[in-house]
Amino acid sequence: MTDFADTKAMFDLPEGVIYLDGNSLGPLPRAAKARVAGVLTEEWGEMLITGWNKAGWMAMPMALGDRIGRLIGAEPGHTVVGDTLSIKVYQALAAALALRPDRRVVISDNGNFPSDLYMATGLLKTLGEDYELRVVDPEAVEAAITEEVAAIMITEVDYRSGRKHDMAALTARAHSVGALAVWDLAHSAGALPVDLAGVGADFAVGCTYKYLNGGPGAPAFIYVAPKHADHAPPALSGWLGHAAPFAFDLDYRPGAGIERMRVGTPPVIQMAALESALDVWDMADMADVRAKSIALCDRFIAGVEAACPGLVLASPREGAERGSQVSFRFEHGYAAMQALIARGVIGDFRAPDIMRFGFTPLYINEGDVDAAVAVLAEVIGQKLWDAPEYKVRNAVT
Ligand SMILES: Cc1ncc(COP(=O)(O)O)c(C=O)c1O
Repeated sequence: MTDFADTKAMFDLPEGVIYLDGNSLGPLPRAAKARVAGVLTEEWGEMLITGWNKAGWMAMPMALGDRIGRLIGAEPGHTVVGDTLSIKVYQALAAALALRPDRRVVISDNGNFPSDLYMATGLLKTLGEDYELRVVDPEAVEAAITEEVAAIMITEVDYRSGRKHDMAALTARAHSVGALAVWDLAHSAGALPVDLAGVGADFAVGCTYKYLNGGPGAPAFIYVAPKHADHAPPALSGWLGHAAPFAFDLDYRPGAGIERMRVGTPPVIQMAALESALDVWDMADMADVRAKSIALCDRFIAGVEAACPGLVLASPREGAERGSQVSFRFEHGYAAMQALIARGVIGDFRAPDIMRFGFTPLYINEGDVDAAVAVLAEVIGQKLWDAPEYKVRNAVT
């Protein structure tokens, strides 16, 4: 049984803040400060370049990959960390398409995060005119998976609404027509149980700065199913994915298994922060996290609907159909979110009118939910959002 008071104590949250944006950027794990300082002073500072061997920096992408793999139901040795999520989306989709050379269609949906669609469009352009990205409504994905489809590229949990796709059903449908399934777990890893091996996912990618709490700019991860690991071409064939990087051959030979999905030099300082973040995950059971996340989200929905009738629920009402966030539509959502942030309740805003709140049981409890509802009720009820300073758009919303 997870002790959520213990996990909460592992984070450094500013006094007086209720942080409901862990679905965008997780907070600072307390231990990361000493761990990162240690990497700076004792490792980089003292060991200099010998740190790659002595401190095990070069092995970190695989070691961290396995620790994340445990949270997403991956087989050991099939997840690696590195680069950004957009890069990993590109790699995973390119590999899937290379494994289905006689097919030209990729299916995604219009609830997907735009970067995934941009990366797919760019990739398909380089592959040739005859490739096609079909973007359908989320509800239409299953029917769109026909025998001409090479791969589906789907984000399991919608970044705006929190709506959750049925990963098992869509993967099975893809396989039934000979297509492959590429899953983006940006809003799933650390948010809910994922069973990549169980559903037979072919590829998966995700980020570590949201629910996993790895810090701003923390590296992404990629998973390749064992059956593809030694056949999938990495597409971005960087030297650290080479079978023998330090042989400095002029010809590229992909490394064994998931190692080939490495590209370039790993971000050691950022990985050290991620290591501390994953230590907290060692204290948590994902089933407990899911149960509490649903309870917290349900409590928030009930509280907001009772106190703020002008806000319209934009997330599924049924807990099993959501990720770990709740979104409400409100015409003045941007200003209302700024007014909330000014009062210590931090969520975020997604155009055109979505107020987004993430619920992360590792450090958010029922008291936080009730307090956030009370502040939101004040902001909406007394129109506190209607002030010029809350209407100025920041670059990051
Ligand atoms: C679902 C999804 N895919 C891709 C991205 C892009 O990630 P990155 O900026 O790390 O490349 C995000 C970022 O939030 C995301 O939510």
